[in-house]
Amino acid sequence: MNHDIQLLESSDIPGALKLCRASGWNQLATDWHRLIEHEPDGCFALKVNQEIIATATTTCYGSDLAWIGMMLVHEQHRRQGIAKALITTCLEYLHSRNIRCIKLDATPAGKLVYSQLGFRDEWSFHRWHRESDGTHQQGNLSAHDTLDRWNPNLDKAAFGVPRTGWLNRLAAHSHVIRYREGCGMIREGYLASYLGPIIASTPSSAGRIVTDLLACSKRTTFWDIPHPNHNAVMLAQARGFQAVRNLTRMWTGSELIPCDLSLQYAISDPGTG
Ligand SMILES: CC(C)(COP(=O)(O)OP(=O)(O)OC[C@H]1O[C@@H](n2cnc3c(N)ncnc32)[C@H](O)[C@@H]1OP(=O)(O)O)[C@@H](O)C(=O)NCCC(=O)NCCS
Repeated sequence: MNHDIQLLESSDIPGALKLCRASGWNQLATDWHRLIEHEPDGCFALKVNQEIIATATTTCYGSDLAWIGMMLVHEQHRRQGIAKALITTCLEYLHSRNIRCIKLDATPAGKLVYSQLGFRDEWSFHRWHRESDGTHQQGNLSAHDTLDRWNPNLDKAAFGVPRTGWLNRLAAHSHVIRYREGCGMIREGYLASYLGPIIASTPSSAGRIVTDLLACSKRTTFWDIPHPNHNAVMLAQARGFQAVRNLTRMWTGSELIPCDLSLQYAISDPGTG
């Protein structure tokens, strides 16, 4: 099948959101806008009869590291090689930018596609989930913070490369908390508030950040925690979160850019790391 892949544009976001809702994903229109604004030449879509039936996005963090995310294919069009074609387009775009390391966060279904395209496992993480008390279903976070309240050096040590430009965009839709030994964000999603990223140099400062961020939202909350960070897992368990989904961080490229998981208490999103 010949796949006519096009650039994803702002006018396509309602169609992309339909794919999110059908797959039970948490992203909002603001999340799609942020991805397109950050990487206008690196977000892709496939349309059939003017309708979006598949998407994939890239997010570059300088020239060392980039992410592929938002890989969604309409249920009726699966197993026709569409995901493979979109990932190949993303890889071509990232190779044209000379990116050394390309990562993504794979669902079990996605992993079956990516492992055939040369992606290798790095580590895994769980989505942790805490139900609201039932009285707060709507998003209530006032979210338009800035990165004055972030710690760029600690973030680079945790993530592997600087990502200030991206975090600035994220902060604009998040509530941000910063202490001397760490920082964190929480933002709204469709199904739940989303806790992350959280970077901290000690478990006690991470605990303080988590407590303060959770106090900002009474909704159901999602929190994606790297398995190897046992301190983060203990914080989630102590606050009544339960592990609900398993995902795998995978990578390809000329060199693995390492991260420091002892500092990462929450990733920023499976679509962007
Ligand atoms: C995962 C997903 C993107 C795959 O899209 P797709 O277009 O069906 O994938 P492809 O047709 O390109 O699959 C390529 C190969 O991967 C493997 N594969 C893909 N989906 C599979 C599945 N559900 N079960 C077993 N193997 C699968 C197969 O080997 C397939 O080749 P084949 O059909 O010739 O056997 C799609 O199922 C989807 O949107 N799922 C919901 C959202 C999601 O999990 N996204 C991934 C985020 S990381």
